[in-house]
Amino acid sequence: MLLNGAVEIVKIHWPVSLKRGLIGFKPEYLTQPDIPSTWRAMETLYDSGKARAIGVSNFSTKKLGDLLKVARVPPAVNQVECHPSWQQPQLHSFCKSNGVHLSAYAPMGSPGGTSGKSRQLLKDPVLNMIAEKLGKSPAQVALRWGLQMGHSVLPKSTNEGRLKENFDVFDWSIPEDLFAKFSEIEQASSLS
Ligand code: A2P
Repeated sequence: MLLNGAVEIVKIHWPVSLKRGLIGFKPEYLTQPDIPSTWRAMETLYDSGKARAIGVSNFSTKKLGDLLKVARVPPAVNQVECHPSWQQPQLHSFCKSNGVHLSAYAPMGSPGGTSGKSRQLLKDPVLNMIAEKLGKSPAQVALRWGLQMGHSVLPKSTNEGRLKENFDVFDWSIPEDLFAKFSEIEQASSLS
């Protein structure tokens, strides 16, 4: 988003680099990324005022820790896959204690995806039990869980009704006893 000529945030999309000039993705195209020098370029962008904030995406606890050791401007955000069936507790705590905001993509487990166990999240019995008790949809409960964890959530929909449904998560909350039940949800990322 452009605000007064500045981009709101620029992120390193993946902590990987690819051989120059190759199109598409194959594991053999990967090269060792130089994150410190990439981050210095991001800091220059930040210093110039062209980006109001700089961040990362898909960084593990280890990669984020390594970056924080060399960063002059710490990343504002780490955008990662995160939802009730991929809760990432260690990364969550690490981001929280280091002041890095965790922003969750695939916050409903990517139900429209073609692979990965997490796309079954909306059918999970624990999530459905909680949804039924609260009179909300499983999607809304998954999004509300993310908000109550302190994340921001980035749900995608091309359907007007579901867009409205996904916005209706701000004036109610999951009570503590039901929130504790999320620990019973089987863990699987969209890649597993
Ligand atoms: P659609 O565009 O037909 O609504 P994620 O953001 O976790 O990656 O999930 C995106 C997928 O979830 C899309 O396939 C989207 O399909 C679907 N989706 C979005 N909102 C809802 C909802 N409230 N209930 C069920 N599926 C949803």
